[in-house]
Amino acid sequence: MDKFIIEGPTPLKGVIPISGSKNAALPLMAASLLAETPTTINLTPRLKDIYTFNNVIRVTGTEVEFKEDQNQLVIDPSKLNFPEAPYDLVRRMRASFYMLGALIGRAGEAKVSLPGGCAWGPRPVDLHLKGFEAMGINISLEEGYVIASVDNETVEGGEFTLEPSSVGATINLVLGAVKKAKKFVIKNAAKEPDVVLLCNTLNKMGANIKGAGTGTITVKKVDKLHGIEVSNDPDRIETGTLMIAAAMHPESDVTLTGCKPEHLGTFPDSFKKIGVHFEINGSEISITPNGGINPVSIETEIYPGFPTDLQAQWATLMTQAEGTSTVTDNIYYDRFSYVPELRRLGADLSVDKNKVTINGKNQLSGTSVMSTDLRASVSLVMAAMVAKGKSDILRVYHLDRGYEQLEKKLNAVGASITRTNQE
Ligand code: EPU
Repeated sequence: MDKFIIEGPTPLKGVIPISGSKNAALPLMAASLLAETPTTINLTPRLKDIYTFNNVIRVTGTEVEFKEDQNQLVIDPSKLNFPEAPYDLVRRMRASFYMLGALIGRAGEAKVSLPGGCAWGPRPVDLHLKGFEAMGINISLEEGYVIASVDNETVEGGEFTLEPSSVGATINLVLGAVKKAKKFVIKNAAKEPDVVLLCNTLNKMGANIKGAGTGTITVKKVDKLHGIEVSNDPDRIETGTLMIAAAMHPESDVTLTGCKPEHLGTFPDSFKKIGVHFEINGSEISITPNGGINPVSIETEIYPGFPTDLQAQWATLMTQAEGTSTVTDNIYYDRFSYVPELRRLGADLSVDKNKVTINGKNQLSGTSVMSTDLRASVSLVMAAMVAKGKSDILRVYHLDRGYEQLEKKLNAVGASITRTNQE
């Protein structure tokens, strides 16, 4: 297991390229199984979650080649002959559950392990299962596995309302419906760019999907899909994370390249309120702090609202703001494991239910802290980069799931981060 040793404080100065999105790549990988011919996915990030999903996909007999030096993934599903996803792999990453929709669509049957809990709560999949049943798919549970089957080559489909709206359920149901359901309508569908990219990609492969990016997605059955070459989107959460990291030190001067600012939803509106100077120029975002940080309270919402995947980073930023602010997570109610760790670094913050109150500004000072999930981990790295002295960030394997070469990118712009073995 690795840890980071971080010396601070260090301003960040220079250019940071944004990597491909983890959460957009995973649905594209699942979609490739629906075709008979190979799909090539460009801008695939070299992340642990991508390697895990490659292995999940390989279990089915599909060939996967990851040309890592080019960030290019080639998935050839022509020999897919085993429609199962075992517990040992699914438990490592919830998104493996996309195999349920992909295998229903491709094989008309699937045996996929239930994902189990996660670091910040139960995270159910009830909507996925109820949605498939509404579509006309037979679903049963046996010894921790979901068993799916169809009576006929085509199921009727129908309509299903997601309450609450769910990214994962929208993606799974689209994957399942494309080649099986006469007509299936998803109401209160997720509008995330990841969903839009998936639907656009499937349409290019031959699918008939309308309404992606709106609250109602309509899928009509097609018999066949063909593989294509597709470019993944840049990671909007990495983009927001690095904007925040740059804002935290008054002498930073950072330009992020290869971004899609239009995917950031309302995040730039909140960012503007903190008073840190930033400019969006095409696919580049420059951040040049020019004084203090205003306290700005946020509440997470579904896209295009403030993303839950940036709330831990925002609370970390607010430890450096002049005054009191709050961070409320309306998507997940207990995703706050970073709070006691930030306190160890000298921050003044407390949690009540799903709301964190942060009293800034505090000079943070280095110590040992422990990562507990992906976004908590990156927040501790950001805090350590402005803390005085040496910090040890333990268990950075969480970071490797979702940030491509984070320490290399940050060291290239002035951070002092050493990766070493954690005894
Ligand atoms: N929900 C249900 N039942 C379900 C599914 C979801 O009640 O069957 C609830 C959840 O408990 C939650 C809400 O619906 O309260 C939204 O969850 P959603 O299904 O949208 O989340 P997800 O698809 O499991 C994805 C991202 C997460 C991100 C959330 C919210 C991927 C692989 N994961 O998860 O990303 O936090 O959407 O935006 O795309 C991360 O990257 O760090 C991460 C956790």
